[in-house]
Amino acid sequence: MADHGIILKTRGLARSFGALRAVDGVDIDVKAGTITGLIGPNGAGKSTLFGLIAGEVQPSHGQVVFDGQTISGLRPEQVFRHGLARTFQIPRPFPQMSVLENVVCAASGQSGERFWNNWFRPSLVAAEERRLTERAMEIIEFTGLKEVVNHAAGLLSGGQQKLLELARVMMIDPKLILLDEPTAGVNPTLIETLIEKIVALNARGTGFLIVEHNMDLVMRICGTIVVMAQGKVIFEGAPAEVMREQKVIDAYLGDVTQEEHA
Ligand SMILES: Nc1ncnc2c1ncn2[C@@H]1O[C@H](COP(=O)(O)OP(=O)(O)OP(=O)(O)O)[C@@H](O)[C@H]1O
Ligand SMILES: [Mg+2]
Repeated sequence: MADHGIILKTRGLARSFGALRAVDGVDIDVKAGTITGLIGPNGAGKSTLFGLIAGEVQPSHGQVVFDGQTISGLRPEQVFRHGLARTFQIPRPFPQMSVLENVVCAASGQSGERFWNNWFRPSLVAAEERRLTERAMEIIEFTGLKEVVNHAAGLLSGGQQKLLELARVMMIDPKLILLDEPTAGVNPTLIETLIEKIVALNARGTGFLIVEHNMDLVMRICGTIVVMAQGKVIFEGAPAEVMREQKVIDAYLGDVTQEEHA
């Protein structure tokens, strides 16, 4: 079990790119089953931190502990199998394949291997495929993609693609999902659907760590918000506290000033 309900913890986590300290000694504790926001100005190191947690970027220093086990040093697919999902950690949707096929094959975890088995050794995997298909259909209904279940994934709108990514990670029933700017490029109606699904999934116990520039959304759904600037965590607190914290305001204003002078 994770200590005191902490599902994810980083200690002294750091990554430099040349002289740039993109992530510079980050200690965070994410409580199990919560929706935690990760905000900060452009270039603060949020996506790099996600990459470090998900095993896509190797740390220069520090540790990541997930559900009581050290996961730093593991490959992305190993991290994924621990129940920590970053949406694009699993293979990206195959544009020619249907929504259903894409959701079913996400469960195999390892690229297309299982998927090809399904084609070449159908009898061996028929029962499992039936089970996976049933599960996939439930998830597709949950995510509101039933109407497009047989459409090619490549023909979905931007927002539907995000719902499809969510549907695909749901196949492994993750304990924590990392979402990096889930609403970027999504139309307002689908943003509401996406939020609804995140909240509903959270009510069933799935935790979220969300990077998002849409502050209304962050304030609405996050219990705790972690603020990063220049590779470091500068503040952590409830949404209302974050809003009135001078350090946070300064970090964003500093960003605006830099952009004006760029
Ligand atoms: N692979 C890389 N090589 C070199 N520099 C990188 C690399 N990845 C990120 N950086 C740099 O590290 C810093 C942090 O980038 P990162 O993408 O983590 O920021 P972010 O907080 O996600 O920003 P945004 O809100 O704009 O997405 C930036 O200065 C970026 O240019
Ligand atoms: Mg980013």
